[in-house]
Amino acid sequence: MKHILLGVSGGIAAYKAAELVRLLRKQGAEVRVVMTQSALEFISSLTFQALSGNPVHTELLDTEAENAMGHISLARWADVLIIAPATANTLAKLSCGLADDLLSTLYLAATCPVYVAPAMNQAMWSKVVTQENIARLIRQGVHIIGPEIGDQACGETGLGRMSEPMTICNQLVLALQDQVTFSELGLQGHRVLISAGPTREPLDPVRYLTNRSSGKMGYAIAAAAIKAGADVTLVSGPVELTAPANVNLINVTTAEQMYQAVMSSALEHTIYIGTAAVADYSPIVSDKKIKKDGNSLTLILQKTKDILAAVSALEQRPFTVGFAAETHDLERYARDKLTQKKLDMIAANWVGQEQGGFDSEQNALQVFWDKGDKALLMTDKGQLAEQLIDLIIERIKAR
Ligand code: C5P
Repeated sequence: MKHILLGVSGGIAAYKAAELVRLLRKQGAEVRVVMTQSALEFISSLTFQALSGNPVHTELLDTEAENAMGHISLARWADVLIIAPATANTLAKLSCGLADDLLSTLYLAATCPVYVAPAMNQAMWSKVVTQENIARLIRQGVHIIGPEIGDQACGETGLGRMSEPMTICNQLVLALQDQVTFSELGLQGHRVLISAGPTREPLDPVRYLTNRSSGKMGYAIAAAAIKAGADVTLVSGPVELTAPANVNLINVTTAEQMYQAVMSSALEHTIYIGTAAVADYSPIVSDKKIKKDGNSLTLILQKTKDILAAVSALEQRPFTVGFAAETHDLERYARDKLTQKKLDMIAANWVGQEQGGFDSEQNALQVFWDKGDKALLMTDKGQLAEQLIDLIIERIKAR
């Protein structure tokens, strides 16, 4: 039976956490609940005690509780820690590593996966400092569920409402399943080649054309492939990221350099994942700085080589996965690319949306292959990358 440790912090959405306990127990999990002092202002610990069937933990320094199950034993007991609702204050404390109550101490002591479901007023959620705390938590490996757009208890409408208990429960069930499938299947013996980030196409000695790709998705896929036991080569355009340890990193700048780097090693790899946002066109480079003459300037751009199509045209080609970023008609364009570029799989995502896509910490993917498709729901890019790797393993096995 899986052990789920639920942390409840003090927001009005605390009442929804009671329903979450019920749903998790219905899935066969054993649940223990930790409440912060302000959560106790919103909902009684008795509710959680009755629903979980276990005593509720509220104190960091309680001699009796320490004898029964102290913070270290509680942290060791958990297969997963979920904090729902996670208030702005709790998120800030976790992101900085404060440990001044039981819940924040448990976060530091936990070695299991940690999930948080933020809940707060929309202005508090969109504050730069909250977003920085979220980004820092994601870097610490925390998985973020939601929040969602909707009516808020304060009477406002916007992004900040806690995800529904059913959504949180489904994500946890998936995560607990992933803990098994991810390590069980693995990519041992595979050599994975990944291209990531934007390319930069020079116009003259001081200017270039580029795009908004951050490289986060490709880097997350590289980390997931390493975790699954593969040897990984990462061909990266200019990004502000640190490559995962143990990756063979090849830095490039232009689409042509990326083409050369990928093509010279494609045949040594069993899987190629093209996440890079390669420039489709590049200018003819002027060796002198272009002068500011006239009211308009016309640039002549030449089509770049399609790296993905070139890899998939190789006779002994690796299992080839492409990406598609679309603003409309996602499935039609993605399926067209799958066929035209003769890919084994294509992962499509919406761009130009409020959440997800370029430069975001989170994303969702709709993955298509010859006779099927699968939706990977909105989550942080690390989690999404692991789900994509799982799917690639599944499709390779099914071939
Ligand atoms: O055709 P489109 O550019 O929309 O397809 C996107 C996919 O093709 C991505 O996987 C991207 O990495 C790849 N691509 C490429 N070489 C190009 C342009 C795109 O490999 N020159």
